[in-house]
Amino acid sequence: MENSNHIIIDSKELNGKRVLVTGGTGGGMGEATVKRLARAGATVITTARHTPDELKDSDLFIQADISTPEGTTKVVEYLLKRFGGVDILVNNVGGSSTPTGGVLKQTDADWQRTFETNLFAAVRLDRGLLPSMLEQGGGVIVHVTSIQRRFPGENTMAYSAAKAALTNYSKALATELAPKGIRVNSVAPGFTETKAAERLIERMAQERGCDYSDARQSLMDSLGGIPIGRTARPEEVAELVAFLVSDRASYIVGAEHTIDGGIVRTI
Ligand SMILES: NC(=O)c1ccc[n+]([C@@H]2O[C@H](COP(=O)([O-])OP(=O)(O)OC[C@H]3O[C@@H](n4cnc5c(N)ncnc54)[C@H](OP(=O)(O)O)[C@@H]3O)[C@@H](O)[C@H]2O)c1
Repeated sequence: MENSNHIIIDSKELNGKRVLVTGGTGGGMGEATVKRLARAGATVITTARHTPDELKDSDLFIQADISTPEGTTKVVEYLLKRFGGVDILVNNVGGSSTPTGGVLKQTDADWQRTFETNLFAAVRLDRGLLPSMLEQGGGVIVHVTSIQRRFPGENTMAYSAAKAALTNYSKALATELAPKGIRVNSVAPGFTETKAAERLIERMAQERGCDYSDARQSLMDSLGGIPIGRTARPEEVAELVAFLVSDRASYIVGAEHTIDGGIVRTI
């Protein structure tokens, strides 16, 4: 047992498990999840478009742009060849880079890119890795969505729509696969202060001609405030994922788990 940030981690809980967490290098939820699952004893493989120096020679890293079919094929082929598949798949990659300024600013290319990154990457990776999970008779899949799937953002409508589609797809997949021993769930974070979120705030500040703290505040205001009084830490989301992929969550299937400090007021 390891005591980390007042959380007791069973360092053998995921022993022998092969895990793919997409997008595990960016100082956000992906990276926090990679670290948390590795601490639980899993062999954790991750992907990103850019290769960090420390992962250059690692067989636990696959350089790929998973918003393309070529990228997901590369990831799947590597995992099947090198590890014979995975036991746990955390589809973490996602995000929005569409312009602000309303619906008329959003081009076809913006919509397409957003859906490729937030929906099709997960669909393709699931489809590529599921046959090996089915063959071994078990597995766990988590889709990282967003509270925006039911709380569309002012300037992120394509992203919100893609996350809504991902949530819907996740539910259908869970129903189909539960009888086959594969559990599928989704995690919907609120405002989590990751490096990617910081970049979004910086972009908003630039576009609006205000400073970082004003842009950050206006983002919090656009959410109607955060009842718990602060943004989330990536490690808090990783802790939820660690629970969901473990046998402690053995009866949890097809559920969306919101982790937002109370932002979404509806039930
Ligand atoms: N941050 C928030 O407030 C928030 C709120 C709700 C939901 N979410 C969702 O939570 C998830 C994690 O978000 P995060 O902010 O914590 O980001 P993150 O996990 O830090 O994600 C960034 C990582 O993804 C990789 N990546 C990005 N695009 C990629 C692509 N096309 N192919 C391969 N790798 C790619 C990045 O590396 P490279 O740049 O090198 O590719 C980096 O490793 C996302 O699905 C996001 O939509 C975030």
